[in-house]
Order: sequence, then structure tokens, then C-alpha cells
Amino acid sequence: MAGIRHRRQAVEEIPILAFYAAPMDERAWQVLLAAIMLLATFKISLITYRRRAFPEPHYDWEKIDTSDLSFPDGFIWGTATAAHQIEGGQSNNWTDFENRTGKEPSGIACDHWRRWREDFDLLSELGVSSYRFSIEWSRLEPSPGAWDEEAMQKYSDMVDDLIGRGIRPMPTLHHFSHPSWWEDRGGFTETSNLPQFLSYCERVFDSLSNRVKVWCTINEPTVFSAMGYTLGQFPPGRRSIRLTLRVMRNMMRAHAMVYRSLKQRDPDCSLGIAKNVTLFDPANRWSPIDWPVARLLEWLWNGAWKRGITNGRMLWEKIPDAKGSLDFIGLNYYTHFITGLFMPTSADELDFAKREHETTTEFGYPMYAEGMRRAIDFVAELGVPIEITENGVADSSDSLRPEHLMRHLWIISEAIKDGRDIRSYHHWSLMDNFEWAEGYEMRFGLYSVDFDTQKRTLRGSGEMYREIIKSELSTPNRGRLQQRVEAKEP
Ligand code: FCB
Repeated sequence: MAGIRHRRQAVEEIPILAFYAAPMDERAWQVLLAAIMLLATFKISLITYRRRAFPEPHYDWEKIDTSDLSFPDGFIWGTATAAHQIEGGQSNNWTDFENRTGKEPSGIACDHWRRWREDFDLLSELGVSSYRFSIEWSRLEPSPGAWDEEAMQKYSDMVDDLIGRGIRPMPTLHHFSHPSWWEDRGGFTETSNLPQFLSYCERVFDSLSNRVKVWCTINEPTVFSAMGYTLGQFPPGRRSIRLTLRVMRNMMRAHAMVYRSLKQRDPDCSLGIAKNVTLFDPANRWSPIDWPVARLLEWLWNGAWKRGITNGRMLWEKIPDAKGSLDFIGLNYYTHFITGLFMPTSADELDFAKREHETTTEFGYPMYAEGMRRAIDFVAELGVPIEITENGVADSSDSLRPEHLMRHLWIISEAIKDGRDIRSYHHWSLMDNFEWAEGYEMRFGLYSVDFDTQKRTLRGSGEMYREIIKSELSTPNRGRLQQRVEAKEP
């Protein structure tokens, strides 16, 4: 017996043999324990990997002095608007949609088509050095082939006026709106329609390119596709994934065509696209469901588009001309989107989730300035200079905008210090305007607009922006940045 016991002990010293030597129920427990440990290790490493590869930083803003800004010499300060949102008196795909759906009509909007000179005084008052605006195709070509020279002349006068004020004009050729006749032909759903878009762009370019050197081809192609063809909140109000993907590809084709053609006309001009980078973060970072949903949306919204530009392939189709079709990237950043299993399939179901400590903006989505840095890093991979073409917040009482502005500017300032090539910041928006599907309820302006009297009033945040521009343009600040850059160098 003693000998047997001794042998048993020797066997137990070798773990695997000890396992087989153990009684059956003990073995089952050991298997279970091992499985649990394996699963836990797998889960922990997966979470660690996700955290490292896809971080969602949140800063303790109380501890950050957001007034500690420094921007490089020549940094461009601006504001942005879009034709349909401010000009008024339009007749295009949007006005058709407003009439058809009973949504709030854009009407005379800010009456900017008549008051543009006074509005440009507002730009001068702010002290901006760049103004991003859009050209309304439906004004220039109200019916196929009929060109309105008078309307073109007005855009040309606007450009002269801006230049006279020392403000860089930065037009966008398509900002969500286009002629009804083009919409009736299918707009961006049909590849065969793209040459008409191209010839409109060429014509505008030929009229203005002797004075305008920086252009945005298209504004937020993904927003246009998703809102118009998946959620049905923008014209034409469709709900089809097939059409959404088709429009996404065709907008990339359109951008590439315009880029190639205009570049040939003037190789010195600088052309980019204004890309909305929305970030998608899983509601529960440990969830096996929320995570793939976030990754899928991120891929569709940002990744597919980026591959179009870097590889000339988008959503399983080749678009060779898109490869490298950017001289700069315009970044529009607003928020991150927290995803879960139950994703909204219509705008009515849109219920923006937020992290516990985040502030909800009037639009409903959270303020997440940290995401601006993630968006910057994402577009920086394209290897071209970055222009921030939009950033702002709906805030009718102007209680959140000052903090919103400071946090985002601080993020940009830090990104520049870390070597990101950011050339400009355009605040959305110069003044309150027609906020698409939301109508006039959402107030994004540095100037408030009384839509009964058309009176513009500078908000507190507008004054703040003006002071920042003034102080950042002054020499001591430039010196401060220079010192920091030098201190960083080895
Ligand atoms: C962007 C649009 C811009 C404006 C802001 C708030 O997605 O490009 O026209 O509506 O949102």
C-alpha cells in the first residue's frame, strides 16, 4: 500500500498526469475552472486590445486650461455657411422636399441673397481671414443648359468683396442642394448624371478661379447619402441601403471627376472635400454586440470613404480617379455616436446616447471635444494638409457655445503642437440659419438672427471668437508657440 501511495504522489507531481489520476467529478471541476479562466483571459485581452487600438479618451476638463492656446503663424480663422441655409428664395431639391413633406420651409432664410454685403461686414467685424460658403447650382442653371449670368455675376461680386476685405473665399460646389431637374433625373443615383454636375462645376470654376484658389468639391457625401437614402430625412426621402451605397460611390466618382478636371484647368488651385467624421463608439465596451455594430458603422461612414481616396476602391467597386484626389482634406467634426444592438432605422428612432458625464447639446447629441483629436488623427493619415471646414454647436441660449468653442480650439492647438498639419478653423456658423430637417429651431450662429426682422446680433461666444482671433494674430502668441516647438525639438 505504502508503495502505491508513493507512486500516486509521484504521478500527481506531473500536472497532466495528476489530472487523469483525479476522480471524475474533480476533473469536471478542473475543466470548468480552466475554461472560465481561458474565457476570462481571452475577454481581458480582447478588451485591452480594443482599448489600445480604438481608445475613447475622456478628459477631466476641470483640470485643463483651455485658454492656453497657441496657433502657428499664418493659421487661418474663418466661419462657414451654405447657400440653401442662408440665401433664401430658393427653388431646388430641398424646397421641393420641404413642400412635399410639410417640413418647415426654408423661405427667405437669412435673406442673404439680398443682404450679403451687410453679412460680409459681420465677417469683417469678427476679424476672420477665410469664409467658407457654397454656390447654389439651381440658381446658376435653373433649367438644363440655361445659365443665369446675373446670378454668376453676384457670386463673382461676392468673391471680389471678400478679397477686398482680406478674406479668403472658400466656395463649396455642392452643399446638399441642387436643381430640381437634376433631382428628377435621379441626381447622384445615376452615374450618367455626373457629367452635368461636372460641367456646372467647370463653369463656376472658369468664372472664379482667377481669384479663388481653394475649393471644396462636395460637402459631407456620407451625410447626404445616409440622410437622403437611408433615414429619409433629406431629399429625396428614400429608405434604401442599395441606393445609399450607390449614391456614396457616385459622390466619390463625382468628386474625382471634378478634381481631375479642375486640376487640369489650373494645377495651382487647391481642391478638397468636406468630410464629416463622426466617430462610432460601442455603448458597452465589453459587449460582443455593441462592438461589431460600432466597427461596421465606422467602416461604412469613415473607412469606406477613406479607402476610396487612398486605394481608388470604394464599397466593392473601382474608382481609380479617386486615388489621391485631394490637395487638402476638409474636416467637419461635431460628435461621436454611441452604438448598441438597437440601431435607429429611421430618424424618429434617433435617440442619441451619451456617456454619463457628457453634456447633451440642443441637437440631442453629446459634446465630445476629445473626438475632434481622433477625427484629426484619422484624416491626418491621408497625408495632406487639414482644413477644419466645420465645427460648432446648436445652442440658442449661448450657454454652452463658449465652452464648446474653447475645448475644440484647445484640442486643435494641442494637435498642431503634436505635429498635425492643420491650416484653418471655420466655425459653423456665421449666423443662425435654416438647419435642414430641423428647420429654424437649431441655432448654430455666432450671430443670432431674428427671423422676423432679419436683425443680426453678435452673441457672447461671437465676441469671444473675435477676441481669440485678435489675440492669436498678435505677435506674442506666435512667439509663445515658437518657443514650445523649439523646446520640443531634441
Ligand atoms: C453639417 C452640415 C451643415 C450644418 C451643420 C450643423 O452636417 O454640413 O450644413 O447643417 O451640420
